[in-house]
Amino acid sequence: PTIIVDDQRFSLGMIMDMVPGGNIVEHVQTIRNIKAREDDVLICTYPKSGTHWIWEIVSMLRKGKAEYDPRIKETAMLELISKDQIEAMESPRNLNTHFPLCMLPKDLLDTKRKIIHVMRNPKDAAVSMYHHFKSEKIGVGHVYPGTFSDFLSLFFCLEMGANGGWNKYVTDFEKFAKDNPDYPILSLYFEDMKQDPKREITKVAKFLDVPYTEELITAVAERCDFENLKKANQEIKDDYITRKIAHDGKQFMYRKGTVGDWKNWFTVAQNELFDETFETRMHGSELKFKFVL
Ligand code: A3P
Repeated sequence: PTIIVDDQRFSLGMIMDMVPGGNIVEHVQTIRNIKAREDDVLICTYPKSGTHWIWEIVSMLRKGKAEYDPRIKETAMLELISKDQIEAMESPRNLNTHFPLCMLPKDLLDTKRKIIHVMRNPKDAAVSMYHHFKSEKIGVGHVYPGTFSDFLSLFFCLEMGANGGWNKYVTDFEKFAKDNPDYPILSLYFEDMKQDPKREITKVAKFLDVPYTEELITAVAERCDFENLKKANQEIKDDYITRKIAHDGKQFMYRKGTVGDWKNWFTVAQNELFDETFETRMHGSELKFKFVL
């Protein structure tokens, strides 16, 4: 579906059939008007950029214990929960969303609640999203029937992907941080988290202003490592969302968890076109993405 917010048109490809009440336009308005709490933290990511990963890190750091949250991050995802559910959530709330900047709750922005923005290189995000669509039978009742090549064409014509477009999503946050130097926003890269998880988790702890020790950071890094988190998701969490939408039991929230898987999917020609498009769409941006480690 397409939605217009502040004269900006968005094509919202993911999760939009799943909003409470079923009406995305109404739900976006509801979300924009929720009331902030003093200790709210908001995690913002373009889909498939490591949302589950950072959510678990944040929840462990705020608890001060490297213990998995028995809930899934979707229980705190603005797209999926109703106003009543958001209001009934216990504090502190670790909210998360793929909504673009202009759809975020106004009160949270006005009262400068902390935002953590995680970015991932768009080639890997595209491959990950393709697998998500291939495994998700929500909405139309069947999985995405096309090839990777078809998907990539769609990714380009939707201004590089769903949810308003990857490049617009990340550069809106970049501009916001530049225009509002006093706003507490932490921007992280998936690739840096992969390369040096302890360094990046320490950044998060400092940003959240929580007490931490070297032991806690090490334990959080280990527990949130891809294999461990994947296992925990299967064994500890009641992941009713994945169960409901998975096609043939396929795992897509924790699929591969690597940097550079795109190389197994892109042809040379597709890669050239992607680089060209990336160059044009990201013109003027100072964001630096790593496509390999
Ligand atoms: P892949 O499909 O490339 O494996 P999101 O949580 O935003 O939906 O992002 C999902 C992507 O993050 C998936 O990418 C998933 O495997 C990866 N991921 C999840 N937890 C991870 C972790 N602890 N370390 C590395 N990647 C992780």
